[in-house]
Amino acid sequence: MRVLTLTLAPLLVFALAAAAKAEPPDISVAWTFGGNAQRGAALIKDYGCGVCHQIPGVANADGLVGPPLSNIGDRVYIAGMLRNTPDNLMFWLRHPQQVVPGNVMPDVGMTAPDARDIATYLYTLR
Ligand code: HEC
Repeated sequence: MRVLTLTLAPLLVFALAAAAKAEPPDISVAWTFGGNAQRGAALIKDYGCGVCHQIPGVANADGLVGPPLSNIGDRVYIAGMLRNTPDNLMFWLRHPQQVVPGNVMPDVGMTAPDARDIATYLYTLR
């Protein structure tokens, strides 16, 4: 039985990894969910996200505190917690402390329209 468990455990890990990969992030709707990517890029600069993140296409965004946001459009999870969908990304941007209490990314009182535009820009990073 022990041998069986030891043999099957890695298979299970592979199966789970495959299952996670099988469903790509729900990106298609990102292109039509109403945001303005150009305004989003400007907002990212204004909010100072680049202090903590490397963000392609945003001047001086070379922070090393948080993960780089290159390819965020292709990631399956946001902060390892939320499925990467437009709604979840906007929720994360507005309430990171609610999703992962105590993490370094601050709640800054971001408005919903700002979150929409920022998320739209982030989904161009693939
Ligand atoms: C003080 C540093 C800091 C600032 C400012 C900051 N973040 Fe973050 N951000 C983080 C950290 C740390 C994480 C990782 C949190 C976790 O995984 O628990 C993170 C995670 C993220 C993620 C998820 C990344 C992934 O790979 O899953 C996104 C998207 C993101 N931030 C976007 C932004 C945007 C856009 C702004 C500006 C509005 C911003 N962040 C401002 C520190 C910061």
